[in-house]
Amino acid sequence: MATDLLAKDNFPVFREYPDLVYLDNSATQQKPRRVMEAVEQYYRAENANPLRGLYDLSVKATEAYEGARAAVRAFIHAHDEAEIIFTRNASESLNLVAYSYGRTFIHEGDEILVSIAEHHSNLLPWQILAKEKGAVLKYLECDKQGAFSVEALQSALTEKTRLFAVTQISNLLGRVNPIKEFAAVCHANGTVIVCDGAQSVPHMPVDVQELDVDFLVFSGHKMLAPMGIGVLYGKKELLERMPPFLSGGEMIEYVTREGATYAPLPHKFEAGTVNAGGAVGLRAAIDYINELGFAAIEQREAALTKLCFDEMRKLPYVHIIGSDKPEEHCGIITFDVDGVHPHDVAYIFNSRGVAVRAGHHCAQPLHRHLGYMSTTRVSLAFYNDEQDVMQFIEGLKILRRSMGYNE
Ligand SMILES: Cc1ncc(COP(=O)(O)O)c(C=O)c1O
Repeated sequence: MATDLLAKDNFPVFREYPDLVYLDNSATQQKPRRVMEAVEQYYRAENANPLRGLYDLSVKATEAYEGARAAVRAFIHAHDEAEIIFTRNASESLNLVAYSYGRTFIHEGDEILVSIAEHHSNLLPWQILAKEKGAVLKYLECDKQGAFSVEALQSALTEKTRLFAVTQISNLLGRVNPIKEFAAVCHANGTVIVCDGAQSVPHMPVDVQELDVDFLVFSGHKMLAPMGIGVLYGKKELLERMPPFLSGGEMIEYVTREGATYAPLPHKFEAGTVNAGGAVGLRAAIDYINELGFAAIEQREAALTKLCFDEMRKLPYVHIIGSDKPEEHCGIITFDVDGVHPHDVAYIFNSRGVAVRAGHHCAQPLHRHLGYMSTTRVSLAFYNDEQDVMQFIEGLKILRRSMGYNE
């Protein structure tokens, strides 16, 4: 465990803005120097169009790109590198599954089950697919604390349920779903499970073979890596049966006037010039996380979450949404302040150098299900510290007074 990797001074942004209190980590994380240097090194010494050239520099670029794929495979414990598809982000990965798997294997009258806690990126592709195919979109509801039960899933599944789309950690509530149990129930019913790991993969060990999910998606930028690189994991036997999503260069084997045959996995799903620099950055991010270790990350984030949660609960006008246990929030605390609109909350925090997120957090159905239109969210990362949390709490204490209330 390399605890010095927890420190903020590994992150150039905090040198640029020494007073910044960055508490919007679920939206995107800041980048460590090492990740920036890895990307810079790639463009300085390894850049050519990967997978194409027969000259040395292109071979280097290919090795850098495919080396990143190998690192991702090991990170999420996939069986085979062919199961790792690089995309732009989690949203694109989900669209790929909906367009390719969905349009091939979901038909009129079939049911698609989606949890009510999904980010819009794991909802809209299924809504669109259901409309196009005449399939039925159904919702699995959570209780007021954001918990989903395996029994509720079991009774929501029918012989027509072809696919269940569910997040491992809600971006609104921070609650972890029992994905392994969900997958077992789905498979016993012949249902494919698509897991959104955008908020879990950066914060906890994820083993796709142990979970036995059919698909898992995540974004590099939420786990220290650059924007523009994302991952789709899919079981090989499913990916092999799926048609390409995007078409063009590099995803083919042979093209004639009449048609084409496609490249083997994973390249069948990676049309056009790839984001090799982004993939190299993702590999450096994975190396950073591995060196630091999830034990250190989880310990640090849990301690900060508890501190923040306990201090927030001392303020009677602050209402935390979701579980009443800090250990069920995984660094995400979403709240409402009596009499103050979330946009005003974020505005006042910004004036004190504290970055928090206000609005619907791309989870409008969950907001409505819980009785809110919009809220404010604090999301922590391992490089935050106690001072960040206490500065946020100080802001929360003066918030209502600055809006003209007595307390
Ligand atoms: C749970 C969850 N899923 C999907 C996404 C979409 O990620 P991206 O915008 O990187 O595609 C997000 C982004 O906030 C998220 O929190």
